[in-house]
Amino acid sequence: MKILVINGPNINMLGIREPGIYGSNSFADLLTLLDETAKAEHITIDQYQSNHEGCLVDKIQQALGVYDGIVINPAAYTHTSIAILDALKAVGIPAVEVHISDVSQREDFRQISYAGMACCKTIMGHGLEGYREAVTHLISIL
Ligand code: DQA
Repeated sequence: MKILVINGPNINMLGIREPGIYGSNSFADLLTLLDETAKAEHITIDQYQSNHEGCLVDKIQQALGVYDGIVINPAAYTHTSIAILDALKAVGIPAVEVHISDVSQREDFRQISYAGMACCKTIMGHGLEGYREAVTHLISIL
């Protein structure tokens, strides 16, 4: 089984950006967690991070025929990007949305998730652990 983990803008700044909201773990810590999860579950996990909306759309399109599942944290593009929603719908790969923070308890402008409309599950507010939960959920349904 092959799972692609996609992270949007500023997720590479984990550990530096707003630690009161996103915690003190770094992006490198997230990559380590994904490696550990892949080993423990005997699957392949590839990851991609970009600050650019079009690059995220390209990566979702390129996942077609390659990956069995997608875990996606579109970050700020969650709340604005119909292009990412359309890309997820276009490829039809089972996808789980992850947010490190509990966006349901944050500003009004974060209350809409376009990408989430194409995802079978949303995990929010569980920190980096949410990514592991998203992967194990995909394993359970695939
Ligand atoms: C985020 C929540 C988004 O609202 C925000 O723009 C992010 C990170 C999260 O993981 O909690 O950059 O997706």
